[in-house]
Amino acid sequence: MKKLALIGCGGIGKYHLSHFVNFKDIELAGFCDLIIERAEEFVKIAGSGKAFSDFEKMYDEINPDMVFICIPPSCHGYIEFETIRRGIPFFVEKPIALDIELAKNILNKIEQKGLITAVGFQCRYDNINDAARSYIEKNRIIQVQGSRIGGIPTVPWWRIKSLSGGMLVEATIHQMDLLRYFLGEPDTVYSIATKGFITEEKCKNYDTDDLSVSVIKFKNGTTATMSSGCYSENGASWESKMTFGSFSSRMDYKLCSDVTIYGIDASDRAEKTAGGVISGDGMQKNNPNEKGIKITSDIDFGTICDRTFVDAVLTGDASKIRSPYSDAFKSVAFTLACNKSMETGLPVKIEY
Ligand SMILES: NC(=O)c1ccc[n+]([C@@H]2O[C@H](COP(=O)([O-])OP(=O)(O)OC[C@H]3O[C@@H](n4cnc5c(N)ncnc54)[C@H](O)[C@@H]3O)[C@@H](O)[C@H]2O)c1
Repeated sequence: MKKLALIGCGGIGKYHLSHFVNFKDIELAGFCDLIIERAEEFVKIAGSGKAFSDFEKMYDEINPDMVFICIPPSCHGYIEFETIRRGIPFFVEKPIALDIELAKNILNKIEQKGLITAVGFQCRYDNINDAARSYIEKNRIIQVQGSRIGGIPTVPWWRIKSLSGGMLVEATIHQMDLLRYFLGEPDTVYSIATKGFITEEKCKNYDTDDLSVSVIKFKNGTTATMSSGCYSENGASWESKMTFGSFSSRMDYKLCSDVTIYGIDASDRAEKTAGGVISGDGMQKNNPNEKGIKITSDIDFGTICDRTFVDAVLTGDASKIRSPYSDAFKSVAFTLACNKSMETGLPVKIEY
C-alpha cells in the first residue's frame, strides 16, 4: 500500500486527517509536528503510523509516497525543497508562501522534477461551482462585489501580519482564488486597509489590518471589489458573499454554502413599469417578489479535494486536480499584490 505522511498536526491537519481515516487503500504512515504530542494524538486518531517531531527523520524512516504539508504561512521553504529533492508528491495548504520569490523558486523546482502537487483550495471542488461557472459562461459578468468578513482565528500566528499575511492573504484568498477560477486572470489591483477598530484590549499583540478593500480589474474587462475584514464579533455584523452582475441577471455566491441566481426567468425581473422604473433610467429596481434559483452545496468537497490528490498519486494522472501548485501560485501572487498596494498606496499590475 502507498504510504501517506502529514507535517503540521494543527487545525487544518486534523480536518485532512478526518478524511484520511476513510481512505482504506492507503497506509497512514507518519505524522510530524514540532510539538510531538500533537503528532501522537494524530497517530491515535489514525489508528496507525508513527509520530515524529522532525520531518526529515520521518522521511528517512517511513519513505512516504505522498505528504500533506499543513504548516503556518510563514514556515514554508525548507520542507518543500527537501520534499521535492526526494521526489515526494505533496499537497500543501494555502497560502503556499508569503514571499513570492520563494514560491516561484519552489514552483521552478516542482516543474523541473515534474512532481504532482495540490493546494488546499478545497472550495474549488464544491458542486455550487458547476452552476456558477455555467451562469458565468452564459452571462457576461460586468462587475463583482465581494466580501469576506470574519473574526480573528485563535492560532497565535494569525494576528501578526508578517506571519499570516493578513486576512486577505490567509482567508479571503479562497474568494480571490475563485474569482480567478471563474473570470480568468486579474490585471491590476488597488487596495487600501484600515486598522484601529481592533484595540489591544480586544486582541493582544494584534498588528494586522482590521479591513481591506481591493478594487480589481480583470484582463477580460470585469471589475471587482473585495472587502476583507476580521473585526466581526458575530455573523450579524455582515453577510459575506460575492455578487456577480450581468445585464439582466445576477448571481449571489456564498462560499461553501449556496449560489442564488436572480433574473434568469423573466418572471423574476421587475416589470418595465413597476414602481418608478422606466427602462434605461438611472436606477433599475428589483422585482420585489423575486425568487431566484438557489443551488445548495451538498457534497463533501473537502474529502473530494484530498481524494483527488491521493488518486492522482496512485494513478499518476493529475488532470483532475483543480489547484496544482502552479495555479495556486497565481492566487498567492494576486493577494500579495493587494498587500503591496496597501503598503505603497499605489495600484499594482499583476505579473506572474
Ligand atoms: N484550506 C483551508 O480552508 C484552511 C483552513 C484553515 C487553515 N488553513 C491553512 O493551513 C495552514 C495551517 O493552519 P492551522 O490553522 O492548521 O495552523 P496551526 O497552528 O493549528 O497548525 C500548524 C501546525 O504546524 C506545526 N509546524 C510548524 N512548523 C513545523 C515544522 N517545521 N515541522 C513540523 N510541524 C510544524 C505547528 O507546530 C502546528 O501544530 C495555514 O497556512 C492556514 O492558512 C487552510
